[in-house]
Amino acid sequence: MTEDIEQVLFTEEQIAARVAELGARIRADYANRNLLLVGTLKGAFLFVADLARAVDLPLAVDFVSVSSYGDGVSSNGAIEVRKDLDQPPEGFDVLIVEDIVDSGHTLAFLQDELRAQHAASVEICTLFDKPSGRAVPVEPKYIGFTVPDGFVVGYGMDYAEKYRNLPFVGLLRPEIYGA
Ligand code: PRP
Ligand code: MN
Ligand code: MG
Repeated sequence: MTEDIEQVLFTEEQIAARVAELGARIRADYANRNLLLVGTLKGAFLFVADLARAVDLPLAVDFVSVSSYGDGVSSNGAIEVRKDLDQPPEGFDVLIVEDIVDSGHTLAFLQDELRAQHAASVEICTLFDKPSGRAVPVEPKYIGFTVPDGFVVGYGMDYAEKYRNLPFVGLLRPEIYGA
């Protein structure tokens, strides 16, 4: 599996250090609020697990599953909701926990949806941001790392459902996804 990686962008240690920093900032910002982490399956499953443990506050956790990519490498803006929140977000200070913001379609959709469902506030924490991919404006409050153009996988992120279990994040060899 690692032979499919062209270049490691962020090691397991770098990711852990950055997640700890984000957790400390979120703790400071959300003290005395009603924090609900909304993880986006499946890509954010590892980030949610690590970030939740780095935020030393009482909080609730829920998940949504939305897909914009299918098995391809680019978003067309059509968002499919596979799993909605278990409870309405009404009154909660929602922090969407996302692995990567690329075109922005997924997050723009989710933000609108959560605001329409009367969340008290809605912000975004993304571990990775790929500004070069942006098609619609989305401004995460917390960003772990900015990534270059190219297809990144690992630490939850897939290509055709593979590579999610890599403990690091790297650039996939273009020949793998047919570029
Ligand atoms: C990927 C990624 C983000 C989204 C970002 O999810 O995990 O959620 O795409 O792309 P966008 O900014 O262009 O919308 P995907 O739809 O592949 O589902 P997955 O998390 O289950 O892999
Ligand atoms: Mn995703
Ligand atoms: Mg995906």
